[in-house]
Amino acid sequence: MENRKKIVVLSGAGISAESGLATFRDSNGLWENYRIEDVATPEAWRKNPALVQEFYNLRRKQALAAEPNPGHRALVSLERGYAVTVITQNVDNLHEKAGSANVLHLHGELTKARSTYDPSLVYDIDGWEIKMGDRCERGSQLRPHIVWFGEAVPMMDVAMDLTEEADILLVVGTSLAVYPAAGLVYAVRPGVPVYVVDPNTPDIRNRKNVTFITEPASTGLPRLVDQLLKEAA
Ligand code: APR
Repeated sequence: MENRKKIVVLSGAGISAESGLATFRDSNGLWENYRIEDVATPEAWRKNPALVQEFYNLRRKQALAAEPNPGHRALVSLERGYAVTVITQNVDNLHEKAGSANVLHLHGELTKARSTYDPSLVYDIDGWEIKMGDRCERGSQLRPHIVWFGEAVPMMDVAMDLTEEADILLVVGTSLAVYPAAGLVYAVRPGVPVYVVDPNTPDIRNRKNVTFITEPASTGLPRLVDQLLKEAA
């Protein structure tokens, strides 16, 4: 078991699109319908926390109702032949719901809340709503456990270390528009194969060793996973 190859998966909103959750930058994506600076920054929280809560409450409600699709499930099957870690930019819990064993959330999790002042005070949310007035054990208002634009990405160092050790990198459903997460594609060791599953081709510099599978996750991933499992057998 120890000599299994290591696969790191970097996933983005596109893998959950076929579960009915909106992406950010596609047409009719979330950022066409909301302004980032109104709902996803520390300034937005200071200016109008109720609006920010409402935005994430709605997203939480949708995410909790969603089911994993064949793309999420293919990544679970991959564990039959590889040591797999999923590094996701997604804040839904569909990788976990599908059964992936190792999931690292770079941008936080909708199913958790945290103290406004102490980021180490993190709580599971009971239900789908955080209300103004809901407080942590030390009395501060609870906020969504989400990394907003302009905030540090605490799990980034761990993600970097994992990616530097990967034997194969699989990138799925991300426009690679947001850093530092997008920088992970350049952290692999030289010669490590990179597979990109996305109906649109994200812009990747230095395309050596990159294979583009220009298909939706629900068909592209199961086929790629079958191929990789055959190679591991
Ligand atoms: N299967 C695979 N990929 C898909 C599918 C699909 N069915 N549908 C769309 N995509 C692709 C799009 O082509 C695009 O490349 O998913 C990608 C979605 O890109 P974004 O909307 O930019 O989402 P993401 O890359 O996850 O955004 C990164 O931005 O707003 C922040 O914090 C937020 O984590 C998010 C970050």
